[in-house]
Amino acid sequence: MSTPPSLLRAFRPQVQERLYDFYDELRSADDLFWDRTLRAWVATGHAVVSEAVDDPGLSSVRYPDMEDVPEELRPLAEVLSRQMLYNDAPDHPRLRALISKAFTPRAVRTLRGRIVEAVDRIITHAAPTGRMDIVADLARPLPLTIICDLLDVPEQDRPALAAWSEPIAEAIGNSRLDDDRNREASQSMTDMLAYFRELLTRRDTPPAPHTLRALVSAQAENTDQDLDELLANCALLLIAGHETTTHFIGNATLALLRHPHAADQLRGRADLMPAAVEELLRYDAPVQLMLRRARRDLELAGRTISEGQTVLLVGGAANRDPAVFPDPHVLDFERPGGRHMAFGHGPHFCLGAALARLEGAIVLETLLTRLPGLRLDGAAPQWQRSLNFRGLTRLDVAFTPPSDDQGAAMGSGRRCQQDTTLMGET
Ligand code: HEM
Repeated sequence: MSTPPSLLRAFRPQVQERLYDFYDELRSADDLFWDRTLRAWVATGHAVVSEAVDDPGLSSVRYPDMEDVPEELRPLAEVLSRQMLYNDAPDHPRLRALISKAFTPRAVRTLRGRIVEAVDRIITHAAPTGRMDIVADLARPLPLTIICDLLDVPEQDRPALAAWSEPIAEAIGNSRLDDDRNREASQSMTDMLAYFRELLTRRDTPPAPHTLRALVSAQAENTDQDLDELLANCALLLIAGHETTTHFIGNATLALLRHPHAADQLRGRADLMPAAVEELLRYDAPVQLMLRRARRDLELAGRTISEGQTVLLVGGAANRDPAVFPDPHVLDFERPGGRHMAFGHGPHFCLGAALARLEGAIVLETLLTRLPGLRLDGAAPQWQRSLNFRGLTRLDVAFTPPSDDQGAAMGSGRRCQQDTTLMGET
């Protein structure tokens, strides 16, 4: 077996555009290898990633020792260490229990009308111009709107949450930031938590029904979490639910625009939407890797991982493994079986998967039905620089603006009758 190049190369802009060829290069050299540059094991094969996410010997605790964390990152790391994503059992299920009540398929279904309404409003606003930047106009504002609705954040406070969330997501997705950016991320986390503390303990306005704020207020006394833990996990929802879904909308739209036959197939077959959403998640996943640390010496795919070593599970590469997905670089909505890793697997399986699927399905259906002649426009799409997240910084599209009569009919809510089976329940 040849020695694979470092995964760090994926950080280069020219590699981002041909990322999946690069992963093929890594996987065919070795599906699990020690990356000397990153000083971590890198898993790119589907079988190894699947084995690793279920292995209790691999821990999700990101900061086992705060003393090792650079001082400017410590305030951020201390909050992350209270989030379910960075905990193992028994703390992990304890932290997940209360919040997961807001994310059951039933609870998520109640958000359908609100998502349809938000997407319709954005499209109705953009339609007469015949142009949009899908990222700035739709993919960024929509998930933020929905997660803020779920948390019961008043409209006027949402821009501040978006501004805090950006440097935090950047710090999580990128281990090579300078000290000032890290300091900014830590400060943003401190500000966000202060905000949630005020929101969740506010007594002057009662929480809107069915929101997480209502759930927390009703159960705060009966839960085995302390307030700091609840606040840290609200911040997780905002960051995990916002950035990832933004990237999903951008990546999925780009994939459809680059595969007009697939877009046409979907236009004629609404029943294909749940499968299309899964295939688009597999094809270009917004979260490319998951991080684990060995709690003890263990065997993984026949290799010895030593206690304390980091293992990077490249779900984005596993999703293109030909051993599980024949012709993996083909976008195929009728692809049989094969479990993709876009939402992870095992105890940390994405809590917001049902919501992300629903948002994705509504957006794609709306774009395909309401924007005739939808096509790429302007400069080549630009990828954000990150090893962890994969998403576009902008995606310019053009389409045929509606005639005056059609324009008047828009926003009439006629799409709200949409089939509820689009959701692809977990
Ligand atoms: C397409 C969009 C999304 C993708 C691709 C995605 C991906 C993921 C992945 C891969 C994980 C597992 C990480 C690991 O095992 O280390 C995860 C966990 C998580 N996601 Fe998502 N996510 C998305 C949307 C959302 C949304 C909308 C929310 C909430 C509003 C959310 C909340 C969470 C939470 C709370 C966890 C941690 C679960 C746990 O540790 O038990 N995600 N997500």
